[in-house]
Amino acid sequence: MAILFQQDEKIFTLQTKQTAYQMKIDDFGYLLHLYYGGKISGSMDYLLTYYDRGFSGNPYDAGSDRTYSMDVLPQEYPTTGTGDYRNSALVIRNHDESECCDLRYAGHEIRTGKYGLPGLPAVHANSREAQTLEILLEDVVNGVRVRLLYGVLEEDDIITRSAQIINQGTGSVVVEKAASVCLDFVTGDYDLVSLYGRHAMERNMQRTPIAHGSQVIGSRRGSSSHQYNPAVIVADGNTTEDSGSCYGMVFVYSGNFLCEAEKDQYNQTRILMGLQSELFHYSLKEGEILTVPETILSYSDRGFGGLSVKYHHCIRDHVCRGVYQNSPRPVLVNSWEAAYFQFNGETICQLAKDAAELGIDMVVMDDGWFGKREDDNSGLGDWQVNETKLGCSLAELIHKVNDAGVKFGIWIEPEMVSEDSDLYRAHPDWAMLNPRRNPVRGRNQLVLDFSRKEVRDYIFEQICCVLDQGNIEYVKWDMNRSLTDVYSTENQQGKVSYDYVLGVYDFLEKLTAKYPHLLIEGCCGGGGRFDAGMLYYTPQIWCSDNTDAVDRLRIHYGTSFFYPMSAIGAHVSAVPNHQTGRNISLHTRGIVAMTGAFGYELSLGRLTKEEKEQVKDQIRQYKTYERLISGGDYYRLSDPFRDSYAAWMFVSEDQRTVLLHVVMLEIHGNMTVSYVKLRGLLPDASYEETESKKCYQGSALMRAGIPLPVEMKEYPAYQFIFQVKG
Ligand code: GLA
Repeated sequence: MAILFQQDEKIFTLQTKQTAYQMKIDDFGYLLHLYYGGKISGSMDYLLTYYDRGFSGNPYDAGSDRTYSMDVLPQEYPTTGTGDYRNSALVIRNHDESECCDLRYAGHEIRTGKYGLPGLPAVHANSREAQTLEILLEDVVNGVRVRLLYGVLEEDDIITRSAQIINQGTGSVVVEKAASVCLDFVTGDYDLVSLYGRHAMERNMQRTPIAHGSQVIGSRRGSSSHQYNPAVIVADGNTTEDSGSCYGMVFVYSGNFLCEAEKDQYNQTRILMGLQSELFHYSLKEGEILTVPETILSYSDRGFGGLSVKYHHCIRDHVCRGVYQNSPRPVLVNSWEAAYFQFNGETICQLAKDAAELGIDMVVMDDGWFGKREDDNSGLGDWQVNETKLGCSLAELIHKVNDAGVKFGIWIEPEMVSEDSDLYRAHPDWAMLNPRRNPVRGRNQLVLDFSRKEVRDYIFEQICCVLDQGNIEYVKWDMNRSLTDVYSTENQQGKVSYDYVLGVYDFLEKLTAKYPHLLIEGCCGGGGRFDAGMLYYTPQIWCSDNTDAVDRLRIHYGTSFFYPMSAIGAHVSAVPNHQTGRNISLHTRGIVAMTGAFGYELSLGRLTKEEKEQVKDQIRQYKTYERLISGGDYYRLSDPFRDSYAAWMFVSEDQRTVLLHVVMLEIHGNMTVSYVKLRGLLPDASYEETESKKCYQGSALMRAGIPLPVEMKEYPAYQFIFQVKG
């Protein structure tokens, strides 16, 4: 049993293979948090302490007991208005404009299987893999109920949390803020590890001590954003890549989010993850429900590396879905950096012929094939094939590509509209803007109000009409600006940003149901919506618009803290690189792109004969190790922001096959030698390096490492394969 309830002590314990989570209903009906971390047994309520704390209020129920205060006690779902002055998980504005919600235990249920969330992505697991705990809390004055949902995936060391806010009272209430998880720590000094970035340089890692006050990351951009990823780690100060204690929180949502880390007056730490409270005032009429997206929690006492392996397994096996969840992805060539908007049908056919010659599986026709779209200033919303530009119908083009022995994929950006488009001229009110103001433009385009069903339905029909024209086996779903003017002519204003994201999910759910064999790759100006929410619908996401191999290995490094390699779209592009101007060898570019769902993004026709041979080799190599790259355990072996080399490795489930990738980042005169230490091997096994045929003991590779070559050139890369013999 992964979920236990001790009736006498009123304690809930959630057990996974290596972790435990405990909470208690106290004498006043408050749900107090007791413990989360490595496995323990017995009651942890001895951790609670009670002292008279000046200026920390006491609930009326406590009578004259001044030692009982919500301002100090660790809680599962703290709310504003109860005497807890720390950050709240829930803020309710009542019918009478007061801001208070006093939640007490009202019941619970333990079920087999994992709960699902209406309209939202969530971890999925069968009845053998998961159990659900549902705890009902209620404020008897305003009638607000909160259903706290806990999913326990015992074997995976995963606990998920979500919350549903239900208005059971009379009159409406407004949800001003709602988190899905609160983690209170009564003791300890922690660091917050978060991923910050910008367009074309996403998910850099930042580690800062959690200090007094609040440290906040989040998004108000409508998407989860390039700037902050909705996933954090709370780590002990001495936690490293392979040792020490750390907790992860991954928000399964693709829109505005808020993560707050706070050290309080008694040095206790509170972490909240949930919906962004700005641009959000979610009014609930009697009987209505708001579902807060879920957060995936995990804990590791083996450092960040141990935590990442758990998240990779969870996201690959329990978030991603569909036929491509665990099957090889096609190696593709994308037309964007090959031709940008300057292509016709012949260009695509030629790309297909070149692709076939090299062993590439698929050609993707990127932006520019529809409406009036010679550049990025017009045409979005007009999803009619520009046959004049292509010189043929889409069906004919796909036939030609397929005849060349190559699959066909296409780019779309369904959520957007250009002012210069027939759609905008016909339905200006479908764009998200306030009719009293000029809208803020982004990439000279506006966002369609996907919170409105009629808008989604129309675009859905248009996109299906395109997909039905031929054998389209892949779609790149792009989203190239942030939301502003969050205003809807139909919807209630405070609901728009949330309902927009649910609209996108609704569209994707319908699309994946109608075209179950279609591979969809998410994209948002590269990696601006790289989150577990999107991965529920699109098993891979274009990781960044930056294809420079050195920048990319850093972007992959940050992304790998939470997201599996199978989710990372990574392509070899031309040199000098279009984003940085850097010249990096084809060999190194190949090794960096072989970290994820591999492909090319350049004009294949411009490759020399030698380069073509190299590309063929890369594809052969990738296909040989594809299962290991997408499904093996992944370890970061260096910090490419600080170390002189970048190294990462993949290990098979049986730990007998290892793929090690290294890129040297620095070269100096009279160079010192770097040694890279491997991880996750069988200590007593003998590993043969397949090229040199040299054998090394697993523990030697892990404890002492191997010396890396010193070569007089920039950014040389190495691929080592180790295999246990016999
Ligand atoms: C975004 C994507 C690119 C490309 C362009 C097309 O920037 O991230 O890969 O598809 O849009 O306009």
